[in-house]
Amino acid sequence: MNDVEAKLMEAQEGALAALVDVQSEPGLEEWKQANLGKTSLVMRMFGSLGQVPKEDRPAVGRAVNALKVALETAFTEKQQVVKQNQLSQAIASEKLDITLPGRALRRGRLHPLNMTLREIYRVFGDMGFQIYRSPEVELDDFNFTFLNIPPYHPARDMWDTFYTETEGVLLRTHTSPGQIRVMRERAPEDIRVILPGVCMRYEQLTARSEIEFIQIEVLVVGKGISFADMKGTLKDFVARTFGPEARTRLRPSYFPFTEPSAEMDVECFICGGEGCGVCKGSGWLEILGCGMVHPTVLQYGGYDPSVYSGFAAGMGIDRSTLMRYRIDDIRHFRNNDIRFLEQY
Ligand code: DAH
Repeated sequence: MNDVEAKLMEAQEGALAALVDVQSEPGLEEWKQANLGKTSLVMRMFGSLGQVPKEDRPAVGRAVNALKVALETAFTEKQQVVKQNQLSQAIASEKLDITLPGRALRRGRLHPLNMTLREIYRVFGDMGFQIYRSPEVELDDFNFTFLNIPPYHPARDMWDTFYTETEGVLLRTHTSPGQIRVMRERAPEDIRVILPGVCMRYEQLTARSEIEFIQIEVLVVGKGISFADMKGTLKDFVARTFGPEARTRLRPSYFPFTEPSAEMDVECFICGGEGCGVCKGSGWLEILGCGMVHPTVLQYGGYDPSVYSGFAAGMGIDRSTLMRYRIDDIRHFRNNDIRFLEQY
């Protein structure tokens, strides 16, 4: 028995000494195989207990068991240590420096054109208008023919058009084709809408004009709509946008899709009507084209012109936005230069 005890003692010391050097999970696994696995001394001794003389058996059994428990306990403790070390190493190497100041969120802002658009939406919204969207790539018929501009008509020259390679398809030169689309969708109901959006014209790029620009179309259709309704609505729009004291005037004009047609000017808000560089000395700024919807256009839209009437208007917002923010070059709007955009 003393021999056995000595042997076990020695085995325990050897195993525990070896465990001291173990620093990793694979190392732990290897140690466990060697000292507690099937072929380890402990397990082999359990297996051969039957050959121990009967009277020694309980003592030997207890001793072997004590060794097994000691090794298992040591293993569990070491396992904790290895895990803890691994965690500390990970924390140290993936260190998060919480003393770094956070990155400030950059606050976005609206593009000046969008600010103008939103203001106009609000004003017309308050007046009971809906916003209607219509396509930027249009059919020739909608852009021209249904607006009372037949193919041969010289009025087509009023717009420098981008045609596509597909016959009859073009980039809309104004928002007016949307009039036909709303009418065809709504006829014979009353209509009170604005149609905002991008238009394209094949024009020279200068400080005052771009090939791409934004218009807002106004359309009202119903029974008994008169020129006075048009004038009142547009004057109200100007008062709500430029202030109640802003004076306006209507000048006779020509558009194929309205009869009679007019242009509305607002007193120059830079010089107050005195005459300056912005209004070219006239004291007035042209803001929109307008008129009573031409009977032919009403018909193309599906309304009987002997029963229904309506008025329409169209305004560009790029130039008025230029003036409003005293911007010197229209090309800034679409250059996407953050230094320009951050000013508004
Ligand atoms: N579509 C015209 C243009 O781009 C503007 C316009 C004038 C629209 C008179 C209208 C209108 O609805 O009645 O030049």
